[in-house]
Amino acid sequence: MYDKEMLKEILEAYGPSGREQEVSRVIRRYVQPLSDEVYTDALGNLIAVKKGSSGKKIMLSAHMDQIGLVVVDIDEKGFLRVSNVGGVNPVIAVARPVRFENGTRGVTYFETKKHSVKDTVMQELFIDIGAESRQEAEAKVQIGDVAVYAAEFTEMGNRISCGALDDRIACAAVIEALRTMKSEHSIYAVFTVQEEVGLRGAGAAAYSIAPDLNISLDVTGTGDMPECSPMSVALGAGAAIKVMDSSVIVPPVVRDFLEEAAEEQGIAVQREVLRGGGTDTGAVQRTAGGILSGCISIPCRYIHSPVETADLRDYRAAVQLLCAAVAKAELPDRHTQFQ
Ligand code: CO
Ligand code: ZN
Repeated sequence: MYDKEMLKEILEAYGPSGREQEVSRVIRRYVQPLSDEVYTDALGNLIAVKKGSSGKKIMLSAHMDQIGLVVVDIDEKGFLRVSNVGGVNPVIAVARPVRFENGTRGVTYFETKKHSVKDTVMQELFIDIGAESRQEAEAKVQIGDVAVYAAEFTEMGNRISCGALDDRIACAAVIEALRTMKSEHSIYAVFTVQEEVGLRGAGAAAYSIAPDLNISLDVTGTGDMPECSPMSVALGAGAAIKVMDSSVIVPPVVRDFLEEAAEEQGIAVQREVLRGGGTDTGAVQRTAGGILSGCISIPCRYIHSPVETADLRDYRAAVQLLCAAVAKAELPDRHTQFQ
């Protein structure tokens, strides 16, 4: 349950928020043979449907977009000035190779005159694409183009590192689950857009699908690095079942249901309370009159950097748990259940 070639291809696809087309094309190729219907909505959410006989719907969701740097100005020497698309830490963004959708490469650095790198703010960050003039730069990059970290897929024992593990590792997990999943319910696998800029895609998709249950998949932080803030989640300790984050409090009935599914199948899990940061789980919960919504998280270190790191044992556990949950779900009618 680790299709390395697929995971690598999905991780390395270009796709900052609002420019998810390349990721969507790659994922579509994988889900098409597994689905009865695949379509894209007006926002760009990619939706793969596997029809069931029960008349009930389960939505699975993982976001396709990654964080990026949008070009806001090009100076006379050809340096690009940028703003953030999603949660980019300007200090982490210094001295990185980056790439644009058209293949243009560049490197980032910061204004060195005022202070040390640790105080860098976004206004002091720039991209050098090797141009010697504004004209030369403009031939390659336009205002509004978005750069992403040019990160390399790296295997380290049980662990892998790359940019955009948030949340492409979960997109791959959903596809792996679709390959083996059995359910009497209709499955709507939704690969969402614009999560990193405020959970924008998932809510629209959930409104139109109006599922009886949603299970989102995203990465979550860990508390297992040197001198980091305390958090009980650790790499290699299993899939994480979300209790809450800043976008959602998962209804205990959904959390318990996921924990029971894990226990029945002997799947390693841990509970997750994420201090800051939201997920599509919350956007889905608040639409279409309220939707039962929970989240399986894949623990990840160094989130929103080019070296995001996850453990393949947790990845496999997340795939297994998703299959177990879908197989176990007995869905009462919406709005009457779970008093
Ligand atoms: Co993120
Ligand atoms: Zn994410």
